[in-house]
Amino acid sequence: MRSHECGIVDKALIDQVITVCGWAHRRRDHGGVIFIDLRDRTGLVQVVADPDEKEAFDAADAVRSEYVLKVTGRVRERPPGTVNPDLPTGEVEIYAQSVETLNRAAPLPFQLDEDDVNEAVRLKYRYIDLRRDSMQQNLRLRHDVITELRAFLNKNDFVEIETPVLTKSTPEGARDYLVPSRTHAGQFFALPQSPQLFKQILMVSGFERYYQIARCFRDEDLRADRQPEFTQLDIETSFMDESGIMSVMETMMHTVFKNILNIELANPFPRLSYAEAMAHFGTDRPDLRNPLRLTDVTDLMHEVEFKVFSAPANAADGRVAAVRVPNGGALTRQQIDQYTEYVKRYGAKGLAYIKVNEVGKGREGLQSPIIKFLPDEVLDGLMQRTEAAQNDLIFFGADKASVVNDSLSALRDEIGRDLDIIADKWSPLWVLDFPLFDFDDDTKRWVSLHHPFTSPKVSDVDKLRAEPGQALSRAYDMVINGTEVGGGSIRIHQQEVQKRVFEVLGIDQQEAREKFGFLLDSLEYGAPPHGGIAFGIDRIVAMMAGADSIRDVIAFPKTQKASCLMTEAPSSVDDKQLRELNIRLRKGVKEANHE
Ligand code: AMO
Ligand code: AMP
Repeated sequence: MRSHECGIVDKALIDQVITVCGWAHRRRDHGGVIFIDLRDRTGLVQVVADPDEKEAFDAADAVRSEYVLKVTGRVRERPPGTVNPDLPTGEVEIYAQSVETLNRAAPLPFQLDEDDVNEAVRLKYRYIDLRRDSMQQNLRLRHDVITELRAFLNKNDFVEIETPVLTKSTPEGARDYLVPSRTHAGQFFALPQSPQLFKQILMVSGFERYYQIARCFRDEDLRADRQPEFTQLDIETSFMDESGIMSVMETMMHTVFKNILNIELANPFPRLSYAEAMAHFGTDRPDLRNPLRLTDVTDLMHEVEFKVFSAPANAADGRVAAVRVPNGGALTRQQIDQYTEYVKRYGAKGLAYIKVNEVGKGREGLQSPIIKFLPDEVLDGLMQRTEAAQNDLIFFGADKASVVNDSLSALRDEIGRDLDIIADKWSPLWVLDFPLFDFDDDTKRWVSLHHPFTSPKVSDVDKLRAEPGQALSRAYDMVINGTEVGGGSIRIHQQEVQKRVFEVLGIDQQEAREKFGFLLDSLEYGAPPHGGIAFGIDRIVAMMAGADSIRDVIAFPKTQKASCLMTEAPSSVDDKQLRELNIRLRKGVKEANHE
């Protein structure tokens, strides 16, 4: 249909007659001469329609935005002064001999180069949105990343194996998406939250190195970096311990970042224990580019008269921590009030602060509504421990440790952005030594921090029952720039250990059999020691693309309310379909659906 692609037309083609196809990106009428920027996947080229070529001119005159055209013409140099240095084809243009409209386009709901188009409109007309240069680049980047990942893994003897989408509930902790079975009345498939159980079984089956670009489904509260349906690079290996797995995965990330962005990531990645991460950053996915740190001051506050500090300091689950903001003395009262409001979103009841006007002058050099409640030695201790300097501002959080951690880590991010002190670089790390269990205050039960097949650290096996809260796991998360991009663990491969873990989780034998009997059975037939990891492809690509949301690197994403605005899924189905599935809607639901 065409002899050339738009984006490659250059001076080498001058005087040749060529045919190009594409979309009318822009059409400008310059007093008798019509210019059309024609766009295909390779880029733009300028077409000139002159009244001297009457047929071509008339056709060009009728062209509107996004018409699909086939243009034949002679390539010529642009007249001096009209060269566009920003365009690879900017030195030439095509002098049209024929302009054929292959298809017309209705007026667009938004222009392709318009900024700040409402996202709901973009999602409804996703086919147009995807024509935009940024979206084309994002999806091509995604393709390149996946291609690199596959190439690396293939070269390292991993095999890609597909696992079922219609399956049983998997234990990643979100709500399942269910699919009713027609052939088994009243029974349901669950869409996989991850291929976790299948990949472990593939290890029992002897594949040793598995991977899959796998779609996962989780019905959970959505955020900018969470979709109900997302893509993992899922990996499992046998006979490798955590250091082996982490080293291969690090090399994989080095390769991908080098080959795609020409960036050398740290080698090796720094490693932090979960305990260190919580102590210094208040989160298990710290952004190390931000120089602000949390400093624990709980032990200084046991005796103080200020109840706001002493009560949590003396509570078993309490914490008092400080965040020193260098030169934060410049923050206004109003800014401090805004941060106080900000941390309240994370459950904090307030945000105490001390301004350091002069160091070494004791109480006299400090300014704060709370210093009157703190004795000299505590103030001195605070100054030393936080390494306070002239004109710093120190914020304090005092509450249950979880509230202090959530609110001060959010504060750290917010101040980092506001003061523009987040370094412009890539900052990967591993977080290790997670607790095996987490106590769920709502259900008053221990739950797995990762999933119930995560292996305890060997030395802790006996402590499991006695002190579940103290047990550490052999899990590892990869974090880049404050985003958890991947997580995995060494698994339990022995029945005995698995039983103890289920005991702590309050999963009795019957429940375990019902839920994962097939995995437990498989472990009885010579399961090798194994472990793996899964990466969030959407998150990695979004970071590499500099996108604000993973929606910008997914061709057809869902909204925050888990619906697709283009297809209008989910949607109601007719009664016949429901009858076949033996499903009846609750009274009122059907009527509400049809309103
Ligand atoms: P996990 O639940 O940590 O581990 O998931 C692995 C990675 O997947 C990404 N991710 C998501 N991305 C987008 N939207 C979501 N809703 C979403 N949920 C998770 C994150 C995360 O790090 N089976 C285990 C892995 C293992 O143990 O091998 C698992 O799924 O980047
Ligand atoms: P109040 O005693 O409520 O007037 O609080 C005195 C100072 O302590 C104010 O700056 C509050 O913002 C701060 N504050 C109150 N509760 C907390 C808390 N739980 N953690 C940190 N600061 C707090």
